[in-house]
Amino acid sequence: MNEEIMNNADACYQLAEQRAAEYFRTLQTQVKEKKYVDTLTEDFQSWKKNHIRHPLLSLFSRRKGNPTSKEYNQYIQWLDYRGKLEPYLDRSISYIYMRDLGKSLESADTQTKVQRKVAYLKKHLTNDRGNKSFNMAELYRWAQKEDIESTVIWLVSKLKSVTRMIPEEMDAEHAQRKLIKIIAGVIMHVYEELEGETSLEKRRMKLERAVRLGYSYGLTYPFIDDLLDAKVLSEDEERKYTDLIRSTLITGTVPKLGVWTGKNADLIRFIHLELREAFEYIRSNQPQETLKSFYEQSYIFFHSQEVDRNKKLSKDHYSNEEIFIPVILKSASSRLIVRSVIGASEDEGFDKRTFFYGIYNQLADDFADMFDDFKEGAVTPYTYYLKHHETRPDLINPFELYWTVISYLIHNVYHSNYKTREIILTRAINGLKRFKERLGTKKYNEVMDLFASGNPEFNYIIQQMVRKGDDVDFFDKLLRDQIITTLRNDRSEQEHFLDTIKTVRHQVNNLLGIAKTGTHTLLEEPIIDAANYSLMGDGKRLRPIMTWVIGINHYGLEKSAIAPLLRSLEYMHTASLIFDDLPSQDNASTRRGRQTLHQVYNIAIAELTGLFLTQKAVEEQASLEQFDSKTVLKLVQYSAQITTKICNGQVMDLESKGKSLTLEQLNTMCFYKTGIAFEASLIMPAILAQANQVEMEALKKFSYHAGIAFQIKDDLLDVEGDQNLLGKPSGKDAENKNSTFVSIMGKEGAKKAMWEHYCLGMEILKEVPLKTSFLKHLLNYNVNRDY
Ligand code: IPE
Ligand code: IPE
Ligand code: MG
Ligand code: MG
Ligand code: MG
Repeated sequence: MNEEIMNNADACYQLAEQRAAEYFRTLQTQVKEKKYVDTLTEDFQSWKKNHIRHPLLSLFSRRKGNPTSKEYNQYIQWLDYRGKLEPYLDRSISYIYMRDLGKSLESADTQTKVQRKVAYLKKHLTNDRGNKSFNMAELYRWAQKEDIESTVIWLVSKLKSVTRMIPEEMDAEHAQRKLIKIIAGVIMHVYEELEGETSLEKRRMKLERAVRLGYSYGLTYPFIDDLLDAKVLSEDEERKYTDLIRSTLITGTVPKLGVWTGKNADLIRFIHLELREAFEYIRSNQPQETLKSFYEQSYIFFHSQEVDRNKKLSKDHYSNEEIFIPVILKSASSRLIVRSVIGASEDEGFDKRTFFYGIYNQLADDFADMFDDFKEGAVTPYTYYLKHHETRPDLINPFELYWTVISYLIHNVYHSNYKTREIILTRAINGLKRFKERLGTKKYNEVMDLFASGNPEFNYIIQQMVRKGDDVDFFDKLLRDQIITTLRNDRSEQEHFLDTIKTVRHQVNNLLGIAKTGTHTLLEEPIIDAANYSLMGDGKRLRPIMTWVIGINHYGLEKSAIAPLLRSLEYMHTASLIFDDLPSQDNASTRRGRQTLHQVYNIAIAELTGLFLTQKAVEEQASLEQFDSKTVLKLVQYSAQITTKICNGQVMDLESKGKSLTLEQLNTMCFYKTGIAFEASLIMPAILAQANQVEMEALKKFSYHAGIAFQIKDDLLDVEGDQNLLGKPSGKDAENKNSTFVSIMGKEGAKKAMWEHYCLGMEILKEVPLKTSFLKHLLNYNVNRDY
């Protein structure tokens, strides 16, 4: 390793450490003198004028039934109704400007920007009637608006592979959320820098870079901090791994991985590749001027984290400096990294503010997490105090230090600015309120007895504010809660969905076999064997599964009543595959993990089996005895129309070989050859259940988009899928010169088209809610599947 560079890194660290030590000494003196008590007591006296209402009024506004901040949409409307939305947004956005963008609220320029954002958000939140939630469709629509779809598609696939690689010991959901948060943070910084940018192309480029930089930098959280915290690696591996990271930050290049064996080898190889790509992206995409600061701050961040990580909660000898200085260092450096990553311009005093601010935020976070951290044995100022305060009277009480920092920030850093005081105190009360809600009053009181007992009078004031303080909520917390709830619900719905398709698939499989009658053995046997051969392959059974869920779970039809329908759908579909694989069509050698039918038998048998299965399908439909005959006739008529359309679609497909189709023609072809069968799977049970027209129309529109999206994914898998997983050959479309979304629009274009159909499908579900989350997850499945 280059010694000079190494010395430089160490020197930087030492310099930062000295500065932090100085700051810490100032704070320490103030804690000892309890200076904050008088100052903040006075501050709270005026703060409460805006936050504690006359008892009668507060009784009135606290009547039962007011939406809590958990109900995102109603909460916004409720604030608006009471005329409180604007101050709420103002305080929330001001806070973000201070915390994340390192701005001072004293500046008139910042005030103007905050006002603009408040007006913008207010308009949007009230116009949408709060109809927004955090999901892929919204994200993609945003990407389209900013013309950065490809980048967002790239990001989504990166997130997918990262989540997949996260080891079990770690919380994948948490890692994903953290990454998203960092990316959002970087995007926010860039939006801020974009003010006044008139060139659309520049705007697009900067946003694109923000997404990639955010991902590249964000990756270090799960793959460096969390990975090391989670103790996934053995001691030896951990040493090797931290050396690798350190050497990267010191030399500016990622070293080769070298040999790595053992159970983590795949994981480490993946991480090494991803981090290298990320590091190189950052290096080549930030201005030379900030690159040095990036390395330095990253080194400080990494090293201070490591110092913390190597502490043991059980050891009782750490000094106050050893506990608090790394906290100052890591919280300040992580903020400075983000600024340098995007090469943002820094206004007067930025560096100083950021340096002083960090520990305030870190102490608030550590306070909220103290019990989780304690369980994990992590050393934070709070866990350490919890563990050792009895035997170590010299330890600084972190809660007192927290108030000291608050007082220092308001008066020394932000020059007693009125608005800054208002916001910081509100945030502090909000933090305590949330903590109390989460842990319950009893536990909360215990915590306060321990941490706030030194100043009974001051504590009395704080607790009064926690109990009675009103209008202390923040938008970022509301968003966070909403995102967590949405992700959690989504995940459990998705698990339920996967569970459903697994069990239903099993049941459908049991229905499919065609029995031999035994009377005309010689005549029937060969074709029944051939049909069963194709049926019994490893198919997904998606179409009958859709029919099952909509028919039985949604419309309440009896399983025994619709069994013939389930069979008929899979018979028709299997027939279409047999024809599709013939030499005269796609000429495929494998299907559903086995040889194609015409290869095992011969072309004639395959053709006849296809015909046989379509007729079997009609026979099944005609035996839907538990429904009235008019309904069944309607169904048979509809089904026959479907089959003719599929034939049409296949002809279009074959006729278009080597031709350049328009988007409209591609959509039509895919709808006919594939989408229509999706439609049938939903409409047929709806016909039997005599569903209303509105719902039928919604199902049709939905399956149009879901079906085309499915086919585009099929086309994509044909070029980038794994044929072992697919159970059919890949590369067939190119070989046959088929005109597909991919051959005509390219992979990128095909992906965009697929996500467009995805969004359209999701939007239909939003318009006509069907009281089932199945279709939503089906659409997710269609576009995210690997086979
Ligand atoms: C394959 O359908 C034919 C297309 C419409 C792309 P599936 O992918 O549903 O095939 P199986 O039934 O699972 O084999
Ligand atoms: C087939 O599309 C559609 C039907 C069978 C109706 P593909 O030709 O793309 O299907 P695979 O890829 O062979 O399954
Ligand atoms: Mg085909
Ligand atoms: Mg084919
Ligand atoms: Mg295909």
